[in-house]
Amino acid sequence: MRYFPLICAAILMLLSLPGSSNARADALPFKRVMNIGNALDAPAYQKWDVTLESHYFHIIKRAGFDAVRLPVRFSDYTGGAPYYVLDENFMAKVDDHVRYALSLGLAVILDFHHFDELMEYPIDRKKKFLSIWWQLSERYKDYSDKLIFEVLNEPTGQLQGELWNNYLLEAVFTIRVNSPNRYLVIGPDTMNTIQGLVRLKIPQTHHLILSFHYYEPFDFTHQGLAFAGLQDKKDRTWKCNNIELKKLQDDFQTVQNFALLHGLPVFLGEFGVNTHVSDKQRALWTAAVRQQAEKFGFAWGYWEFVSVFSAYDLEKNTWRPVILNALVGTKASAECAVQRTEDRKQ
Ligand code: GLC
Repeated sequence: MRYFPLICAAILMLLSLPGSSNARADALPFKRVMNIGNALDAPAYQKWDVTLESHYFHIIKRAGFDAVRLPVRFSDYTGGAPYYVLDENFMAKVDDHVRYALSLGLAVILDFHHFDELMEYPIDRKKKFLSIWWQLSERYKDYSDKLIFEVLNEPTGQLQGELWNNYLLEAVFTIRVNSPNRYLVIGPDTMNTIQGLVRLKIPQTHHLILSFHYYEPFDFTHQGLAFAGLQDKKDRTWKCNNIELKKLQDDFQTVQNFALLHGLPVFLGEFGVNTHVSDKQRALWTAAVRQQAEKFGFAWGYWEFVSVFSAYDLEKNTWRPVILNALVGTKASAECAVQRTEDRKQ
């Protein structure tokens, strides 16, 4: 009897092979997503720079986004083996945020973020990973379809290749017992980058969304950041020139080819430039990436609302206008053309 739920899930999955769902992102309950990073993904009981407040959801919704991605460090809020019971106080807070965002009509992508120990000791932490997903899928089983689960943010370290494929498959099987139809976001190893796609095996089930993260050129988007080892790098610019735009297009084409092969809609789950870079430069890159994503029919999620890659200035209580325009405005491509003309004149 112990295996009954898993057997049921296996039968459900066999009955619902991919191909039945629309492979374009148009079919998804979201297109334009804002990541609220550095809040619920902070280490347990430590305050990072963002405290999630419910009015943020209003600000995001009013600006024209239709979803939020909520990175959460669930792994820091459990009891010990063998059940790893999720902490009820913490989870009640997560419930409130999810319910509130849903009540505004936003879709919510609940993302299992920063499970660093799983990447370091995958064998040892596997049961914890699966037990957390069992609990989450049970807890939210009656929530609307606009709640979406993301299995694991940026697998890396020891959790790569076949091992990641196996963990992904088992997590999807586990979730499917309680959530047979919920959309699940899945992504490749090597931190959800395009390079990981060649190794990714897609679990045989419906309602999957392929995610990837894009921060190329990395020494442009992450310049000045110590955590990326680029604290001394400060002078990389983005010119919107043909070589850069061609690289972007080729990269997205690689993702598109993979997605079409597997009949999956695509979600560019994270992209952004950090605030060591001028807003003008950040906006140029952001607009180019956003527009390329839309040309390919990918849904996208900007990293991030406030904090290191912020689109919104919390101190001034206002959006950074050029970044917002790059994300939801219409003038963004013209600005790229102006930059190219200025470069040609020099
Ligand atoms: C990933 C990391 C996050 C970081 C972001 C940009 O999502 O988990 O901490 O800020 O990428 O580098």
